[in-house]
Amino acid sequence: MFKKFKGITFLVILMAFVLFVAGCNNSGGGSVDVGIVLPTKDEPRWVQDEQRFKDALADSDYSTEILFSQGSSAKEKENVEALLNKGIKVLIITPHDGAAAASAVEAAKKEGVTVIAYDRLITDTDAVDYYVTFDSLAVGAAQAQYLVDNAEGTDVPLYLYAGAASDNNAFLFFEGAWKVLQPKIADGTFKIANSSEAEALKDSADLSRDQLGKIIGQITTNWDANEAKNKAQTHLTAASDDLKGDVVILAPNDGTARSIADVFASDGAITSYFVTGQDAEKASIQYIIDEKQSMTVFKDVRTLVKDAMGMAVEILDGKTPETTGSYNNGEVDVKAKQTDVIVVDKDNVKSELIDSEYYEASEFTGLE
Ligand code: BGC
Repeated sequence: MFKKFKGITFLVILMAFVLFVAGCNNSGGGSVDVGIVLPTKDEPRWVQDEQRFKDALADSDYSTEILFSQGSSAKEKENVEALLNKGIKVLIITPHDGAAAASAVEAAKKEGVTVIAYDRLITDTDAVDYYVTFDSLAVGAAQAQYLVDNAEGTDVPLYLYAGAASDNNAFLFFEGAWKVLQPKIADGTFKIANSSEAEALKDSADLSRDQLGKIIGQITTNWDANEAKNKAQTHLTAASDDLKGDVVILAPNDGTARSIADVFASDGAITSYFVTGQDAEKASIQYIIDEKQSMTVFKDVRTLVKDAMGMAVEILDGKTPETTGSYNNGEVDVKAKQTDVIVVDKDNVKSELIDSEYYEASEFTGLE
């Protein structure tokens, strides 16, 4: 009797185990071919990417799942693990923090998954196979060039802001911008208004990663609109009269640009400002129409999504994806596919964003 009972217990445990394993492979209903992990829902930029992925996937033969990490590397690692449990073969991931994401993608590589870094590079690991990206140096250069082209006179106060130091792109954007701004600081067109670190390096056209890190550390917004607003307020409170009047502002993206613009617009001693941005977020397109933000850099997310999914499908089909160059991530050269960017201001907003059907005219007011 005891023996028989043991036999039944064993069977029950075995069955439970089989069910458990099956559950692990299938949790959430069915297996997934491609896992997509995006950094946060709190910024329209990434919600836009989610929508573009959904549009592109509508008639795909492969199954996909999109998860958000909500600005947390721990949550990001959990997301990757959840997707690994669902049997993904390809991981498309935009890291919240480029270095911290190394352990998540290393876990994926261990399972034989191909890793595609999407828009942001994952640094200091050999566990990244591909990188799909916009030309981020060109983004910064375009922002800076816009300020150069529009500033009048000499000694124009230049306010500098940057993205998060944990994002490799923040370095690329600033590096691209600095190459254009530095000669104009040297020749007296601009004077730096808010960064002693940039001031100390104003004679160097080429900055090392450490030097860039010093400047970014001082003028970072952490990609956070509130932090950008607080910093801008602090800067304007501290600014002497000769740092007011007609000014130019390098703002790294649309979310931070809008909040920095609001602060500058509400300061009576600022007579005019040019402020940059990037992402062509809807709210910023309205700001550009309303002349509250000067420009944005349009990064057509449809192309990036197409490239990333195209790569994933080739990998699933056993082919080798085509690349156009490579990016060193501190450990290896990661094969990359790069997309160009477009400068948008009030003059071409309609032709670039409405005529190309990126947005609908009815989403904005005052569009001519
Ligand atoms: C992206 C930008 C975005 C920023 C903040 C960067 O890595 O390239 O498009 O605005 O992150 O999320």
